[in-house]
Amino acid sequence: MLTAELTPLKATPCKGDTTMTPKTDLANSTTMVVGASRGLGRGIAIAFAEAGAPVIAVARSETALNDLAREVSGIHPEVADAGDPSVAGSLIDRYDPHTLVLVAGATPLHRPIQHHTWETFSTNWHTDVRIAFHWVREALLKPLRPSSRVVVISSGAALGPGSPLSGGYAGAKATQRFIATYAQEEASRAGLEITFTALYPRGPTPLTGLGRPAVEAHAARAGQTEEEYLTRLRTPLTPEIVGAAVVELLQTDPASVAPGYVLNSAGLKPLEPPAGPPADRVQTERPVAARAAAPTGGRSRFRGRGCA
Ligand SMILES: NC(=O)c1ccc[n+]([C@@H]2O[C@H](COP(=O)([O-])OP(=O)(O)OC[C@H]3O[C@@H](n4cnc5c(N)ncnc54)[C@H](OP(=O)(O)O)[C@@H]3O)[C@@H](O)[C@H]2O)c1
Repeated sequence: MLTAELTPLKATPCKGDTTMTPKTDLANSTTMVVGASRGLGRGIAIAFAEAGAPVIAVARSETALNDLAREVSGIHPEVADAGDPSVAGSLIDRYDPHTLVLVAGATPLHRPIQHHTWETFSTNWHTDVRIAFHWVREALLKPLRPSSRVVVISSGAALGPGSPLSGGYAGAKATQRFIATYAQEEASRAGLEITFTALYPRGPTPLTGLGRPAVEAHAARAGQTEEEYLTRLRTPLTPEIVGAAVVELLQTDPASVAPGYVLNSAGLKPLEPPAGPPADRVQTERPVAARAAAPTGGRSRFRGRGCA
């Protein structure tokens, strides 16, 4: 389903490295899906389990996670608030995942900007951005082992003119893109061989907790019925399409993976990386020593694999 030739990521700058690890053996690599109790995350967890991967499904809703684990073998539920700063480190330490998929996100309040309060406007900053920040940081600090993959589910809203009915949503999802890009740069500088990829699903889909109210709000604003609004969109994404696309991405050789992909019902399309720095800086700036300055809150967990 990859619809265009993949744009190569710059490989780690370590001297002597010639190849990156080939495609993932899913059956022997634990996949952790953060935000797996419903919607797109549930679809991703099921797709990985059906592809043979052991899956750790993380979310706050115990009943929904237990139902998921009962329905699909190979899924282990972990009830946790992924926005709690201590949760990312402890679950990564406990399960040592090869693949980390960050899907968790809040449903924004759909109303024009003047009808938001600061609290409603910033909802997605306090959930989506916060979760991406804590989990990406822990993936670098541990660090995840070489050949690990981290996928951040952003949104197509991050790439366009914004999303005027959803407050800070588009800006928060754009910040997730920066977080993934910065993390890739740090991983490359330290020779960690972790691949970070951001996905930008084009929505909204009426099939999820976040997408349904978005469809209702956009249709109402356009003076259309939901059916009329939906006919303007391409075939909406489904959790199954998103799950299959993320599994496919994980089966792709990291050396040919792009930093980001737009995802619609036709599949994944690589997003061209911005020209010039920061990619250039990876090879020209002073290497690994900067790691020592990482604020670890008293812990010294950065056991980065620098270049000899
Ligand atoms: N749906 C779309 O059309 C669309 C389009 C583009 C991008 N996206 C992005 O895709 C992601 C998933 O969207 P969705 O439509 O599937 O949403 P959804 O149906 O509302 O599901 C959100 C998931 O995130 C989990 N979650 C939220 N806060 C959490 C927390 N603090 N700790 C742990 N888990 C948490 C929820 O689980 P609990 O409540 O059980 O914790 C739930 O499993 C979001 O990041 C969204 O921005 C969606």
